Amino acid sequence: MNENLIDGKAVATALRARLGDAVAKIKADHGRAPALAVVLVGDDPASHVYVRNKARQTQEVGMRSIEHRLDADASEETLIALVQSLNADPDVDGILVQLPLPKHIQEAIVIEQIDPAKDVDGLTEASAGRLVLGKPGLRPCTPTGCVILARDVLGDLTGKFCVIVGRSILVGKPAAHLFLEQNCTVTIAHSRTRDLPALCHSADILVAAVGRAQMIKGDWVKPGACVIDVGINRIDAPERGEGKTRLVGDVDFDAASKNAAAITPVPGGVGPMTIACLLRNTVLAACARMNWPVPEGV
Ligand code: GUN
Repeated sequence: MNENLIDGKAVATALRARLGDAVAKIKADHGRAPALAVVLVGDDPASHVYVRNKARQTQEVGMRSIEHRLDADASEETLIALVQSLNADPDVDGILVQLPLPKHIQEAIVIEQIDPAKDVDGLTEASAGRLVLGKPGLRPCTPTGCVILARDVLGDLTGKFCVIVGRSILVGKPAAHLFLEQNCTVTIAHSRTRDLPALCHSADILVAAVGRAQMIKGDWVKPGACVIDVGINRIDAPERGEGKTRLVGDVDFDAASKNAAAITPVPGGVGPMTIACLLRNTVLAACARMNWPVPEGV
């Protein structure tokens, strides 16, 4: 393994081990484990894989996993009624509605029905508002994973120049606030940014979250920078045989890793952190809701 590789799998495994200990302590002290409810609508194959992995890892740390599956033609009203019943269930600590939803359902309307106290995805307006206002609350999982990885490499992030390429609701925007919370100087770049290569080259921490395969070139990376690649893009890989594909990030990994002091691979970088952070949010949501102290190591 490259010496400058950030091993997201190992960091996520270590976090899950600490969560397992925390869940055991919660069970011993309070008589029940935190519970995560995941709602899956329709038959998107990628979503089925994600949901299966979430359920398995939830159980592996000792928490209760509740799965609800609705048909692809389920109505928005049916989904909202399900979310409301989960809000009202005292034994459910976290609620996640797997995205994307079928086209006839308005995602924003459904997400907004989730009780912010159970919003382990950190996607409700209340959660987003609390993040922007610097108030405690549940933070989105993928950007939290980015911060944990950067801290794992660099320690205290105070004063670092952080450039985030991408302004999505799920990653770019919340990541900017989370790195700001770490006392970084943060710039958000996007498709209209002028001289993106020069801006990227100013970054101590470069977060790529644009969803375009290998868009960030190697010479855009400052020597010694820490590169966090959130992208997961499938591209043709004829070198592996006819019709073969492979996963790549938003960064040209081979070229960038010559400059970066630390860089996340794709797959195996940010990806494994997302579910680990979801499990962490479920523990945090349970503790906040039930007035339990947060165990050490969470
Ligand atoms: N689908 C892909 N990523 C995510 C995520 O972080 N949360 C939800 N709810 N759905 C997703």
